[in-house]
Amino acid sequence: MQLGRLNHVGVATPSIAASVAFWRETMGAVTVHAAFALPEQGVTVCFVDTPNTQIELLQPLGDASPIAKFLEKNPQGGQHHLAFEVPDIAAARAAFETAGKRILGPTRIGAHGTPVFFLHPKDMGGVLTEIMEWPPRD
Ligand code: CO
Repeated sequence: MQLGRLNHVGVATPSIAASVAFWRETMGAVTVHAAFALPEQGVTVCFVDTPNTQIELLQPLGDASPIAKFLEKNPQGGQHHLAFEVPDIAAARAAFETAGKRILGPTRIGAHGTPVFFLHPKDMGGVLTEIMEWPPRD
């Protein structure tokens, strides 16, 4: 496992519009990207730039959204996951498997268009952890 940069912090929200207003007006965010749907992951996503990372706002999309369960427990939303970059997603996955960490589902294409997988928070010090390949390769 080769640990790379913190790519983003995932934050669940019942309303991307309300969260964008918060990040702009209260936190001083200047660059907010257009929101887009990721139906296969049951979320609508909106990235907010900070000087050294991004906030990934996640709003439920559809009835089976994994974010919906999170919002039942945390109605106003909250910190959902951390996403770290790795140079080789297959090597990282193999390393976590060897370490006995539970991987949640298959490697899939994430919100940045590169392969990602998630690790169970109970095996990761309580933190739902996303591992994403970066930079994109052809
Ligand atoms: Co993420």
